[in-house]
Amino acid sequence: MGIIKPLPDLLISQIAAGEVVERPASVLKELLENSLDAGATRIDVQLEEGGVRLIRVADDGGGIAPEDLPLALARHATSKIASLDDLERVGSYGFRGEALASIASVARVTVSSRHPSQPHAFRLRSNADSAEPAALAAGTVIEVADLYFNTPARRKFLKTEATEFAHCDEVLRRLALARPDVAFTLSHNGSAKRRLASADFSHRAREIIGDEFFPQARPLDAVAGPLRLSGLAALPAYSRAGRDEQYFFVNGRFVRDKLLTHAARQAWADILHGARHPAYVLFLELDPAGVDVNVHPAKTEVRFRDARGIHQFIFHALQRTLATPLAAAGGDEETAAPRFVPAAYPQARQGSLGVGEPATRAYLEFARAAFADDANAVPPATEGSPGWAPTPGSTEDATAPLLGFAIAQLHGIYILAQNAAGLVLVDMHAAHERILYEKLKTDIEAGPPATQALLVPLLLAASPAELATVEEQGETLAALGFDMAAAGPREIAVRRLPALLAGGKVNDLVRSLLRDLAEHPASRVIETRRNELLATMACHGAVRAHRTLGLMEMNALLRQMEATERADQCNHGRPTWVQLSMAELDKLFMRGR
Ligand SMILES: Nc1ncnc2c1ncn2[C@@H]1O[C@H](COP(=O)(O)OP(=O)(O)OP(=O)(O)O)[C@@H](O)[C@H]1O
Ligand SMILES: [Mg+2]
Repeated sequence: MGIIKPLPDLLISQIAAGEVVERPASVLKELLENSLDAGATRIDVQLEEGGVRLIRVADDGGGIAPEDLPLALARHATSKIASLDDLERVGSYGFRGEALASIASVARVTVSSRHPSQPHAFRLRSNADSAEPAALAAGTVIEVADLYFNTPARRKFLKTEATEFAHCDEVLRRLALARPDVAFTLSHNGSAKRRLASADFSHRAREIIGDEFFPQARPLDAVAGPLRLSGLAALPAYSRAGRDEQYFFVNGRFVRDKLLTHAARQAWADILHGARHPAYVLFLELDPAGVDVNVHPAKTEVRFRDARGIHQFIFHALQRTLATPLAAAGGDEETAAPRFVPAAYPQARQGSLGVGEPATRAYLEFARAAFADDANAVPPATEGSPGWAPTPGSTEDATAPLLGFAIAQLHGIYILAQNAAGLVLVDMHAAHERILYEKLKTDIEAGPPATQALLVPLLLAASPAELATVEEQGETLAALGFDMAAAGPREIAVRRLPALLAGGKVNDLVRSLLRDLAEHPASRVIETRRNELLATMACHGAVRAHRTLGLMEMNALLRQMEATERADQCNHGRPTWVQLSMAELDKLFMRGR
């Protein structure tokens, strides 16, 4: 009577394969990941006809015991996790026990492996009942022949041999970047295409991304609590027309993640023309429990527990790397990352970072506000005089401000201040961004945000996509305090904007807000999404690295920080300021007190 029937096993696998095995390159990715999970130090890949005819991957990894061979090809069988707990902190590429079974349902698979416990190797074909003895010195060889032989409809979606080979090559390049210690070879139709010896990261990166990128690449290695970002970021002198040289790895896994690319793009936003794309190879490392890798069949997307904190961390680490003056860059890179010689970094670029630019109006405004609130914020007679510092006694009284008084600005990035305890170092941009963000949030939560009308509407040249965003996201923009509309087929008129941001570069602000909205449209302004947009706004309103601040402005920022909630934590552990006490300073100089 009933019409619901269980599906046959083969069909179940073929359906699953539809998600995992999109093309030869996806097969190659699964096989390479398995070899790396097995601890291989050398992997040889042979392809025929773009991988459709044959993909053969040979490794020198730990091998598979003969009794495990049938299980390796079975669905939902894996040696890599055993519980939900394992899944939540998985460190291997594989965890589903799905890949080989899926591949075996749409191709002819042969697994040959020699486990160290065995006197010889065994081989199992996907359609055979049992394994047979085979000749193989060590490791595992997996051959995948005649992809989609039994699902001809799928086969029709494949592109030319050259295209499929190019995708395979790209898969290998990504994993080779993540694992420079492993040697790889790649051949296609019998001719050698790549030969990568085991190397350090800089050599590998040079081989994979090429000689043009390399001289413009800045090494970085930033750590904040449990987060680490390392790799290479190209200065704006080297940019691309597409996103083809953007490699982002999360715990060694290549991902295409909106959050990560967005954070990176923002770091370059000020120094790169909007139509160009930055080039980078970046490795984000964090506790596996903080990232869910089980969200996408090809595992190329991830979900972060603390998305906002990670976004901020990446943005700041990259921005700092790109902004650091050349002389200061790479100073501590003796060991891990190579020291690069950035040959042709144009001086004009530094100008565009805002060296010596006058402070924004917003900045001066809060300086004024701070002084109005508290006449003692800066000793009146001395304010602004260069080299001014409070006398030692003046910081000791009980009303002395927590963050003390500014003494100087370091490399356009840090503010140095003296307080009762000793020296205070403030990350200028991070601190200001935090303050602005909190203010924007408070402002918006208190009702419609305070806005400021522009006497003359600001006209911006706009692309059709930007115009469409203005139209579609009008409500969101209004909720954020913007009034803008199309002013012709290629122009936007901005009539009103949040009062807190009125002093900044409206142009850049509007552009990145529109880009942000276009990429992640917000039909309703839900709170988390709204806060992300506010963060974009704050980031643009915040004082840029390399802007010279007067003592008065610096002191105003310090007072503002003291008055702002959570101002001392940029986000989850990344401080906006640090204290070096006199005792710590004395220790540096072995000075007994
Ligand atoms: N090259 C290899 N060397 C050693 N063992 C392997 C190799 N390839 C596969 N295996 C074994 O076969 C099992 C099944 O592999 P398969 O790729 O199907 O699943 P998985 O890697 O566990 O998970 P996922 O589906 O997420 O890739 C693995 O768990 C592993 O034990
Ligand atoms: Mg696998």
